[in-house]
Amino acid sequence: MPNKLIRWTCLIAASLIPSLVAAQSAKPATNSAATWKTECAACHMAYPAGLLPQRSWQKMMSGLEKHFGADASLSPAVNAEITAYLVNNSAEKNTSRRSAKFLQSIAPAETPLRISDTAYFEKEHRKVAAETWKLPKVGSKANCNACHSDADAGEFSGKNTKIPQ
Ligand code: HEC
Ligand code: HEC
Repeated sequence: MPNKLIRWTCLIAASLIPSLVAAQSAKPATNSAATWKTECAACHMAYPAGLLPQRSWQKMMSGLEKHFGADASLSPAVNAEITAYLVNNSAEKNTSRRSAKFLQSIAPAETPLRISDTAYFEKEHRKVAAETWKLPKVGSKANCNACHSDADAGEFSGKNTKIPQ
């Protein structure tokens, strides 16, 4: 390649890289994330959007008045904002290995409303004894942060996991 061409190629590549990096690490709009945290962590932790497919979030958000025995209904505007946030950050949109595992474990015809009902959840928790879920400090499979100290940050790895006594 002639020198001039090499220089141009490098210049073009250098100017493209920052925009590619920016596109990959694009964060959700702060307002929607804040609204989701406020509304969806009122009764339990804010379950990370990347652990369920978008159809699950859509189904859940269209039935909040009957949400696992609770009335979690919202105004139409807030509902729309949170639904968009959940869909935009759903398992399909999240590039992590963890999201891929949850997604792969759910049959296309299924629309689970519980993360704790998915096959991947069951597989990862197969060693947790039935009595453990009933411990006073646990109480429910849905109580992720009883054992995962960093669950609020979407972190579930072994080093941050401890079954309470
Ligand atoms: C009024 C209280 C309340 C509010 C507000 C609320 N939830 Fe819930 N949610 C519950 C209850 C109760 C359960 C069942 C918990 C259990 O089984 O221990 C639940 C369970 C869930 C589960 C299933 C957890 C699992 O994997 O087992 C998801 C997902 C969920 N909620 C998402 C949301 C989202 C998203 C919002 C915000 C739009 C929200 N919740 C707001 C009460 C609430
Ligand atoms: C009774 C304690 C307990 C509760 C409650 C619990 N987990 Fe776990 N979880 C564990 C244990 C133990 C492991 C295995 C840790 C290891 O691999 O060393 C695990 C593993 C995982 C893993 C796989 C490891 C990883 O890094 O991806 C995920 C994902 C996970 N849990 C998500 C959840 C979610 C989501 C909830 C709530 C809906 C939840 N867990 C509730 C104990 C718990």
